[in-house]
Amino acid sequence: MFSTQLELFSSKAAASAIRQAIRYRVGLALHVEHRGAEGQNWFSEREARVIGRSRLVLLCCLLLTLVSANAEDGSQAWLRYAPPVLNAIPADYQKMPAALVDLDSSPESISAQKELRQGVQSMLNRILRVETKVPANDDAWILGTVEEIRAAFPEFHTDSNKPAPEGFSISILAAHGHRYWVIAGTDPRGLLYGAFRVLSGIARGVSFASMQGTQSPAAPVRWVNQWDNLNGTIERGYGGRSIFFDNDQVRSDLTRAGEYARLLASIGINGCTINNVNANPKLLTPAMIHEVARIADAFRPWGVRLSMSVPIDAPQILGGLDTFDPGDPKVAAWWREKFDQIYAAIPDFGGIEVKADSEGQPGPSKYGRTPVDAANMFAAALKPHGGIVVYRAFVYNHHLDWNDIKADRARAAYDIFHPLDGKFADNVIVQIKNGPIDFQVREPVSPLFAGLHRTNEAIELQITQEYMGQAHHLVFLPTQWKEALDFDLHAENRSTPVKDILSGKSFHRPLGGYVGVANVGLDANWMGHPMSMANLYGFGRLAWNPNTTAQSIAEDWTRLTFSNDPKVVSTVSHMLLTSWSIYERYTGPLGLQTLTNITGPHYGPAPQSQEHNGWGQWIRADHDGVGMDRTVATGTGYIGQYPPAVAAMYTSLKTCPDNLLLFMHHVPYTYKLHTGKTVIQTIYDDHYLGAQEAAGFVTQWKSLDSLIDPERYQKTLALLEYQAGHAIVWRDAIDRWFEKMSGIPDDRHRIDHDPNRIVAADMQLDGYKPIDATIWETASGGKAYACLDQTSCTASTKLNRPAGWYSVAVQYFDYRRGVSTFTLQLDRQAIATWTAENTLPGEAPNGDTSTRFTLHGVPRRPGDTLTIEGHPDDGQPAPIDYLEITPEAAPAPQAASAH
Ligand code: GCU
Repeated sequence: MFSTQLELFSSKAAASAIRQAIRYRVGLALHVEHRGAEGQNWFSEREARVIGRSRLVLLCCLLLTLVSANAEDGSQAWLRYAPPVLNAIPADYQKMPAALVDLDSSPESISAQKELRQGVQSMLNRILRVETKVPANDDAWILGTVEEIRAAFPEFHTDSNKPAPEGFSISILAAHGHRYWVIAGTDPRGLLYGAFRVLSGIARGVSFASMQGTQSPAAPVRWVNQWDNLNGTIERGYGGRSIFFDNDQVRSDLTRAGEYARLLASIGINGCTINNVNANPKLLTPAMIHEVARIADAFRPWGVRLSMSVPIDAPQILGGLDTFDPGDPKVAAWWREKFDQIYAAIPDFGGIEVKADSEGQPGPSKYGRTPVDAANMFAAALKPHGGIVVYRAFVYNHHLDWNDIKADRARAAYDIFHPLDGKFADNVIVQIKNGPIDFQVREPVSPLFAGLHRTNEAIELQITQEYMGQAHHLVFLPTQWKEALDFDLHAENRSTPVKDILSGKSFHRPLGGYVGVANVGLDANWMGHPMSMANLYGFGRLAWNPNTTAQSIAEDWTRLTFSNDPKVVSTVSHMLLTSWSIYERYTGPLGLQTLTNITGPHYGPAPQSQEHNGWGQWIRADHDGVGMDRTVATGTGYIGQYPPAVAAMYTSLKTCPDNLLLFMHHVPYTYKLHTGKTVIQTIYDDHYLGAQEAAGFVTQWKSLDSLIDPERYQKTLALLEYQAGHAIVWRDAIDRWFEKMSGIPDDRHRIDHDPNRIVAADMQLDGYKPIDATIWETASGGKAYACLDQTSCTASTKLNRPAGWYSVAVQYFDYRRGVSTFTLQLDRQAIATWTAENTLPGEAPNGDTSTRFTLHGVPRRPGDTLTIEGHPDDGQPAPIDYLEITPEAAPAPQAASAH
């Protein structure tokens, strides 16, 4: 039939992108018929006939051009400067001056003025004319520091609400018969942040009048950490390879490093640690320092100071000393010289991050020294240069004794650092992860925040979604972070919310702040998942002002990233704001933490991995009950690390919140929560609800079909469909595991009783053989079916179902290696073909690799045979688990699509 289609549309994805481009750009709605391997004819015969063969070719060529010319690959993130498409542009923009005067000459102010010109032109189609002097007969934008503006305009004052360091004020100044739109920074960084604030306002359609006012950052340290390795990989990075390093060198092309710094500046981030906390000493060689200076050069126009992670044993490994004892003068001298070298190459070097005595990293304990001894040695060497030491409190023993009922990893940071309070030098900050374990889906706030009154503190938040679905699940983290920042620890029997401790307000500290583990990579969209950038954006917004609501972060990000269309804003914000609790429900509710494979990639379900090892992420589930007893009376005593009011709240079962119950207490499965439901039934129900809610993301996103650009729409849709399938994998695995452990069935008998599911073991198999799933609960009956010794295998089933429309889901396993091909056949006619080409972190049938392919709108008659045909590739044996055939409404004419 129409071979031109074959030439043009080599894949279903391309055809569906084009279909969406048509909707988005031209408002046409074409029905794309899914025929898969049979013929790859993505437009129906009728449509093709209607459009006409030659016109189709022309239309498609035109659309391909349109799609690529308007490609939105996510690289611009929230700085797209798209025209703000609103019902009405704010009236005061009419009076926007055409002249721009920059009174400052710093690299930051040059960036500010360039950015303003570029943004205003791109969004409002107005050209700003740069003048070297304040024009005598025209209104003008005035950029400068407060002092520079005051020198030019004596009538300018911000005294009533003076911005603090790195703050800014936006105002209109009436002088000499003209109106000046003023962006005044306390310093050049503040000026740059002010310019970005104005641009964000324009993009969201905010009037200039309502942008006016003064803003200052909540804390001086607002850094991101990149866990980049010198070989170009990134530890826990899910957005491609390092933007800084490759092959043990600094990349020659640092364009992305500059673009990253621009993004960071736009949200008020002022520092970036460029390498893994598990640090490689090679970065400290003179040659590398020289190279790293190029990264600092790329950061500088954006006011981002570069810092490095350093391994404490560098003097021995690199310097050839016989020791790295921080108490040894030779060692201190080595570091002094090293920092002198660094500052000679990078005069605005920010300082260092230190991970020591943690997860196998060397530390001061080797010499009987404490974190204070190490941190203060570094601090003394950095002080003359104005650098700081950020010393991580993530210090714990990962060889704990599982049989010791009193052992508790959660206690470690407080036990080690609280006795050292008041001993750290002034240019040391202790960096504390938000919770006492490790970036789990839910943890209480670390008690250490309240345990240090005479020490500078920073919170460490993880932007990269290590335990939060990586680049495959939508999980908006500012909602979680807000809970931590707002949490009142009641230190000294007064109100001390975490955010006030970090700003230095609670305990009158000079330094403090926010560190976010970002791990962006070379992927065009930086983090792999188009929605993940909402987390980086949200981190910056909260570090600047922790009183910002998660809702306004979600809405602003959506407007800047996608559109001001009210339907887009409300739908995407709703998806973002509900996503964390949905993820919590289908992974680990009630304070169980993310029940993932903690000794593997931290991705799919593997609850047993928490137990019986030294890592201390235990949930202590047995046949009678579940949860860690952390009370003082009978448990590990962890709760006693909190100030009395908080300790009392967690100690009492009456007041301990349900969502942290199992983090704090060990209770029987039949224990009734505040909701009146038992623990075990809540675990079951939450997993069913969470999976259902994850499926809801797909429906919500599809309602935006014609309102989002094709590239990001399709990419996000594919990810949300994957997430909905993976949420079912989570649900089934966790519920099976707890059902077996507790011996208590789900009161609705749902677990492994899905009436629509036909497991491979019950199908007619040709070539497919059972193999053990590496984690039994992640496959039906603990078995996957693999095509081991043949070039293709089939699994078939004949169903006597009423005639009608169905969705057919195929559950299969997609290893990282190899690209198996699958075909779904209805009465031996192919109705869909797909490949297992996702980049999931696994090479075996388990919860990391279990994946679902769903085809909607499949017509079935009684007696039809459904067949899955698998073709192995490169060691990936096209493994399958089951089919699920669910009745659904008849597709509306012209509306069906694959998935
Ligand atoms: C987690 C993470 C590690 C990382 C560590 C840290 O444990 O899995 O990759 O090194 O945190 O924060 O130091």
